[in-house]
Amino acid sequence: MDSNQFTKEEIKLIQYSFSTLTTKSKHVGEKFYTRLFEANPDFAKLFKGDMKEQAGALMRMVKTVVEGLNHPEIIVPAIQDLGRRHNEYGVSPEQYQAFGDCLVQCIEEDLGHDFNAATKKAWQKLYSVLAEEMKGNKYNG
Ligand code: HEM
Repeated sequence: MDSNQFTKEEIKLIQYSFSTLTTKSKHVGEKFYTRLFEANPDFAKLFKGDMKEQAGALMRMVKTVVEGLNHPEIIVPAIQDLGRRHNEYGVSPEQYQAFGDCLVQCIEEDLGHDFNAATKKAWQKLYSVLAEEMKGNKYNG
Protein backbone atom coordinates (compact mmCIF):
# COMPACT_ATOMS: atom_id res chain seq x y z
CA MET A 1 0.00 0.00 0.00
CA ASP A 2 1.52 3.33 -1.01
CA SER A 3 0.44 6.89 -1.53
CA ASN A 4 -0.14 6.56 -5.30
CA GLN A 5 -2.26 3.46 -5.11
CA PHE A 6 -5.60 5.21 -4.68
CA THR A 7 -6.89 8.11 -6.76
CA LYS A 8 -8.17 11.22 -5.01
CA GLU A 9 -11.64 10.25 -6.20
CA GLU A 10 -11.43 6.75 -4.69
CA ILE A 11 -10.23 8.19 -1.38
CA LYS A 12 -13.08 10.69 -1.37
CA LEU A 13 -15.70 8.01 -2.09
CA ILE A 14 -14.38 5.70 0.62
CA GLN A 15 -13.97 8.39 3.27
CA TYR A 16 -17.33 10.00 2.54
CA SER A 17 -19.24 6.72 2.55
CA PHE A 18 -17.53 5.62 5.76
CA SER A 19 -18.31 8.92 7.45
CA THR A 20 -22.03 8.40 6.80
CA LEU A 21 -21.67 4.98 8.42
CA THR A 22 -19.50 5.70 11.46
CA THR A 23 -22.27 6.26 13.98
CA LYS A 24 -23.67 2.86 13.03
CA SER A 25 -20.39 1.10 12.44
CA LYS A 26 -20.65 -1.07 15.54
CA HIS A 27 -24.00 -2.30 14.34
CA VAL A 28 -22.55 -3.03 10.90
CA GLY A 29 -19.67 -4.94 12.53
CA GLU A 30 -22.03 -7.13 14.55
CA LYS A 31 -24.25 -7.84 11.57
CA PHE A 32 -21.11 -8.63 9.60
CA TYR A 33 -19.96 -11.45 11.91
CA THR A 34 -23.45 -12.95 12.05
CA ARG A 35 -23.52 -13.08 8.26
CA LEU A 36 -19.92 -14.27 8.00
CA PHE A 37 -20.59 -17.27 10.24
CA GLU A 38 -23.87 -18.11 8.50
CA ALA A 39 -22.08 -18.30 5.15
CA ASN A 40 -18.82 -19.81 6.51
CA PRO A 41 -19.61 -21.83 9.66
CA ASP A 42 -16.03 -23.11 9.92
CA PHE A 43 -14.73 -19.54 10.49
CA ALA A 44 -16.48 -19.26 13.85
CA LYS A 45 -14.22 -21.67 15.69
CA LEU A 46 -11.21 -19.39 15.10
CA PHE A 47 -12.73 -16.67 17.28
CA LYS A 48 -12.21 -17.07 21.02
CA GLY A 49 -13.40 -13.74 22.44
CA ASP A 50 -16.59 -11.75 22.79
CA MET A 51 -17.98 -11.05 19.30
CA LYS A 52 -19.35 -7.62 20.22
CA GLU A 53 -15.85 -6.56 21.18
CA GLN A 54 -14.48 -8.18 18.05
CA ALA A 55 -16.99 -6.22 15.95
CA GLY A 56 -15.77 -3.03 17.61
CA ALA A 57 -12.10 -3.94 17.03
CA LEU A 58 -12.72 -4.69 13.34
CA MET A 59 -14.56 -1.44 12.69
CA ARG A 60 -11.93 0.59 14.59
CA MET A 61 -9.27 -0.94 12.38
CA VAL A 62 -11.29 -0.19 9.25
CA LYS A 63 -11.66 3.40 10.50
CA THR A 64 -7.90 3.72 11.01
CA VAL A 65 -7.27 2.49 7.48
CA VAL A 66 -9.94 4.71 5.92
CA GLU A 67 -8.62 7.78 7.72
CA GLY A 68 -5.05 6.83 6.87
CA LEU A 69 -5.66 6.61 3.12
CA ASN A 70 -4.16 10.03 2.49
CA HIS A 71 -0.85 8.83 3.99
CA PRO A 72 -0.95 5.03 3.70
CA GLU A 73 2.78 4.64 4.41
CA ILE A 74 2.03 5.56 8.05
CA ILE A 75 -0.42 2.70 8.55
CA VAL A 76 1.40 -0.02 6.58
CA PRO A 77 3.44 -1.35 9.55
CA ALA A 78 0.26 -1.72 11.64
CA ILE A 79 -1.44 -3.60 8.79
CA GLN A 80 1.53 -5.92 8.38
CA ASP A 81 1.54 -6.63 12.13
CA LEU A 82 -2.18 -7.31 11.98
CA GLY A 83 -1.54 -9.76 9.14
CA ARG A 84 1.14 -11.58 11.14
CA ARG A 85 -1.23 -11.89 14.11
CA HIS A 86 -3.84 -13.36 11.75
CA ASN A 87 -1.41 -16.10 10.80
CA GLU A 88 -1.11 -16.90 14.48
CA TYR A 89 -4.91 -16.96 14.84
CA GLY A 90 -4.91 -19.73 12.23
CA VAL A 91 -6.43 -17.64 9.41
CA SER A 92 -5.55 -18.98 5.95
CA PRO A 93 -4.96 -16.76 2.89
CA GLU A 94 -7.99 -18.30 1.14
CA GLN A 95 -10.33 -17.04 3.86
CA TYR A 96 -9.73 -13.37 3.05
CA GLN A 97 -11.93 -13.33 -0.06
CA ALA A 98 -15.13 -14.49 1.66
CA PHE A 99 -14.43 -12.13 4.58
CA GLY A 100 -14.05 -9.15 2.22
CA ASP A 101 -17.10 -9.98 0.10
CA CYS A 102 -19.20 -10.17 3.24
CA LEU A 103 -17.77 -6.94 4.69
CA VAL A 104 -18.35 -4.91 1.51
CA GLN A 105 -21.87 -6.33 1.23
CA CYS A 106 -22.75 -5.35 4.80
CA ILE A 107 -21.48 -1.80 4.23
CA GLU A 108 -23.44 -1.66 0.96
CA GLU A 109 -26.65 -2.79 2.61
CA ASP A 110 -26.26 -0.24 5.35
CA LEU A 111 -25.70 2.67 2.96
CA GLY A 112 -28.37 1.65 0.44
CA HIS A 113 -28.70 4.10 -2.44
CA ASP A 114 -25.63 6.10 -1.41
CA PHE A 115 -23.48 3.10 -2.24
CA ASN A 116 -23.14 3.54 -6.00
CA ALA A 117 -21.04 1.46 -8.39
CA ALA A 118 -17.94 3.67 -8.11
CA THR A 119 -18.11 3.59 -4.31
CA LYS A 120 -18.42 -0.18 -4.32
CA LYS A 121 -15.45 -0.56 -6.65
CA ALA A 122 -13.34 1.69 -4.44
CA TRP A 123 -14.22 -0.39 -1.34
CA GLN A 124 -13.45 -3.64 -3.15
CA LYS A 125 -10.08 -2.25 -4.13
CA LEU A 126 -9.40 -1.04 -0.58
CA TYR A 127 -10.19 -4.46 0.82
CA SER A 128 -7.99 -6.23 -1.77
CA VAL A 129 -5.06 -3.92 -1.06
CA LEU A 130 -5.53 -4.43 2.67
CA ALA A 131 -5.83 -8.21 2.41
CA GLU A 132 -2.73 -8.51 0.22
CA GLU A 133 -0.76 -6.32 2.62
CA MET A 134 -1.89 -8.48 5.56
CA LYS A 135 -0.86 -11.63 3.68
CA GLY A 136 2.54 -10.10 2.94
CA ASN A 137 1.91 -9.73 -0.81
CA LYS A 138 1.81 -6.74 -3.11
CA TYR A 139 -1.51 -5.84 -4.72
CA ASN A 140 -1.39 -5.99 -8.54
CA GLY A 141 -4.72 -4.50 -9.58
C1 HEM B 1 -8.92 -6.75 6.11
C2 HEM B 1 -9.22 -7.82 6.80
C3 HEM B 1 -9.25 -7.92 8.31
C4 HEM B 1 -9.18 -6.96 9.27
C5 HEM B 1 -9.07 -5.45 9.10
C6 HEM B 1 -9.24 -7.65 10.56
C7 HEM B 1 -9.20 -7.04 11.79
C8 HEM B 1 -9.05 -7.67 13.01
C9 HEM B 1 -8.77 -7.04 14.28
C10 HEM B 1 -8.62 -5.53 14.47
C11 HEM B 1 -8.69 -8.01 15.21
C12 HEM B 1 -8.42 -7.79 16.72
C13 HEM B 1 -7.18 -8.45 17.22
C14 HEM B 1 -5.89 -7.91 16.62
O1 HEM B 1 -5.77 -6.70 16.38
O2 HEM B 1 -4.99 -8.73 16.39
C15 HEM B 1 -8.90 -9.26 14.54
C16 HEM B 1 -8.88 -10.52 15.15
C17 HEM B 1 -9.19 -11.69 14.50
N1 HEM B 1 -9.54 -11.84 13.17
FE1 HEM B 1 -9.46 -10.43 11.75
N2 HEM B 1 -9.37 -9.00 10.33
C18 HEM B 1 -9.38 -9.20 8.96
C19 HEM B 1 -9.49 -10.42 8.31
C20 HEM B 1 -9.76 -11.60 8.92
C21 HEM B 1 -10.04 -12.85 8.24
C22 HEM B 1 -10.06 -13.06 6.73
C23 HEM B 1 -10.28 -13.78 9.20
C24 HEM B 1 -10.65 -15.22 8.93
C25 HEM B 1 -11.72 -15.78 9.37
C26 HEM B 1 -10.11 -13.12 10.50
C27 HEM B 1 -10.16 -13.74 11.73
C28 HEM B 1 -9.78 -13.17 12.93
C29 HEM B 1 -9.58 -13.92 14.17
C30 HEM B 1 -9.74 -15.43 14.33
C31 HEM B 1 -9.21 -12.99 15.16
C32 HEM B 1 -8.88 -13.29 16.64
C33 HEM B 1 -10.12 -13.37 17.43
C34 HEM B 1 -9.92 -13.91 18.82
O3 HEM B 1 -8.80 -13.99 19.30
O4 HEM B 1 -10.93 -14.28 19.38
N3 HEM B 1 -9.82 -11.81 10.29
N4 HEM B 1 -9.14 -9.04 13.19
